[in-house]
Amino acid sequence: MNGAAPLLAIDDLVVEIQSMPALRGFTMTVAKGAMVSLVGRNGAGKTTLMRSIMGHLAPARGTVRFEGRDLASRPRHERASLGIGYMPEDRCLVPQLTVEENIMLPLWVAKHLDRKARLDFVYEVIGELTEMRHRKALLLSGGQQKLVALGRALAIGTKCLLLDERSKASRRRCRSGCRRSWHPSRARI
Ligand SMILES: Nc1ncnc2c1ncn2[C@@H]1O[C@H](COP(=O)(O)OP(=O)(O)OP(=O)(O)O)[C@@H](O)[C@H]1O
Ligand SMILES: [Mg+2]
Repeated sequence: MNGAAPLLAIDDLVVEIQSMPALRGFTMTVAKGAMVSLVGRNGAGKTTLMRSIMGHLAPARGTVRFEGRDLASRPRHERASLGIGYMPEDRCLVPQLTVEENIMLPLWVAKHLDRKARLDFVYEVIGELTEMRHRKALLLSGGQQKLVALGRALAIGTKCLLLDERSKASRRRCRSGCRRSWHPSRARI
């Protein structure tokens, strides 16, 4: 790891979906401790950018570096061990698993973390999850499922949180959980 490298460095990223350009030469640097909002119209490419960082989409050109490491050469599941948490736009919970099992999912591959401590942290930030911890995800409302997806990202995102979510409530919860180490800034695409 290069200590002087930014947390996230995206350079000239080009992503195509079904041969159509979804991102055209996107460049952005995020410093450690920064909070950045991506603002853009529907279809601007916000989700595409996050899915590319997480390795769900392969860029046609450009690089994504995390703490100086090129993410393209790393398998998708390694994002969890690197401390990157992701809350996808469509939540992507496992419906048959309980709330707690869904939150624990990324922790099962990040063996270096104290799972109990991470779970306690999530319940501290999002108190409502404590009451529903034993309920299956499929029995939750849409808003409750969003909270679980946020909790799952918080559990593993010790260094970086990618939240594909525009609701003020989620942003407020993240700020309250991470206020000590984050400072706001803003980017536009
Ligand atoms: N599954 C798909 N198949 C084809 N094109 C897609 C698909 N997903 C996204 N796109 C296209 O990629 C471009 C970027 O979409 P993306 O979902 O990243 O936008 P967004 O900024 O997240 O929008 P929103 O604010 O509506 O969530 C759009 O032109 C969109 O039509
Ligand atoms: Mg989107």
